[in-house]
Amino acid sequence: MTKKQYRPATLAIRSGHERSQFGEHSEAIFTTSSFVFATAEQAKARFSYEEEGNVYSRFTNPTVNVFQQRLAAMEGGDACIGTASGMSAMLAVCMSGLKAGDHLVSSRSIFGASKVLLSSLLSNFGVEVTFVELTKLDEWRDALQSNTKMVFFETPTNPLMEVGDIAAISDVAHSHNPDIKVVVDNCFCTPILQQPLSLGADVVLHSATKFIDGQGRCVGGAVVGDAEFVGEKVLGFMRTAGPSMSPFNAWVFTKGLETLALRVNQACDNARIVAEYLSEHSKVERVFYPGLESHPQYALVNSQQSRPGAVLTFEVNGGLEAAYALINQTELMSITANLGDTKTTITHPFTTTHARWSNEEKAKVGITEGLIRIAVGLEDPLDLIEDIVFQ
Ligand SMILES: Cc1ncc(COP(=O)(O)O)c(C=O)c1O
Repeated sequence: MTKKQYRPATLAIRSGHERSQFGEHSEAIFTTSSFVFATAEQAKARFSYEEEGNVYSRFTNPTVNVFQQRLAAMEGGDACIGTASGMSAMLAVCMSGLKAGDHLVSSRSIFGASKVLLSSLLSNFGVEVTFVELTKLDEWRDALQSNTKMVFFETPTNPLMEVGDIAAISDVAHSHNPDIKVVVDNCFCTPILQQPLSLGADVVLHSATKFIDGQGRCVGGAVVGDAEFVGEKVLGFMRTAGPSMSPFNAWVFTKGLETLALRVNQACDNARIVAEYLSEHSKVERVFYPGLESHPQYALVNSQQSRPGAVLTFEVNGGLEAAYALINQTELMSITANLGDTKTTITHPFTTTHARWSNEEKAKVGITEGLIRIAVGLEDPLDLIEDIVFQ
């Protein structure tokens, strides 16, 4: 795969795989914890990285490697590290790029657990964190300090589908200090819809649990970026601390990458139909979907993403009671917190994904009791619309 520059659809199916001596067509699963050396001298050379090759599956494994190379190719990165979950991908980046006394600037609108990791866990280790509004560039600029080492945001955001300007935020951070790592959670778009590295970001995070798996089977994550930070520092963290991706999960994710474009594109088509239906419904206060002209960053969505995505959020009249009533009457959609599945999922962010935030924190970003998130899957969109019956 190194001889020719293949196009994205080809990379998603062909990159990363080197056949073993058995000539298998589909990628093999190497379920082994360690690797055997021909001699003690070779073991020494492998342990010290003098010789390339696998040592121990906490930090390298051939099946995980196929996934890593394929996702790196699709995101346009030089290196990728698979992790046990999306959250451990984030932890790996923070532990590799920050130390006590450093400062991080993060968007306030992020996934619930991401905020808890930044505000509670990191502060226990002496890292200062400032939260800003994703769409206000001035806030990003004003928050940067001499000890700022990292900025973090997701776009579109979970659950309100706000969109951050990757090129502009990267520019603000790098103009302040070129060494700041701009880290983008690309979970909602995947490389099919958006490639943050090409827009100026340094590191991309994934919850592979979502669209990359695509059928709700495995939990996993990934960090993509350059050879130095990701290929050395994050790999070093994995070697020592080891929140590793299992070979079986890596295989599922690798096969998921092969159909990612098909699934994401179809889910985008379906989401648009559901979003348009909801936006015209009298019992809906507001729909948050990047594909609607009413979206506050509609122009940016069209320049930064190739499509608006498959997740939408809407606010029903009547608060928590009305939201629960609507969720409870669904027969087709799954009431669950996952997203990016072929099966459409329906979630109440206020009491699930963002339950650990205080009411004040939720109010600041607009997570209300009447808010419902739908991650649209691959069922017939007309069946999905019929499943949404307002009480
Ligand atoms: C935007 C986003 N980032 C990260 C995560 C965490 O991923 P995981 O559940 O794989 O740890 C999630 C999970 O819902 C998410 O929605």
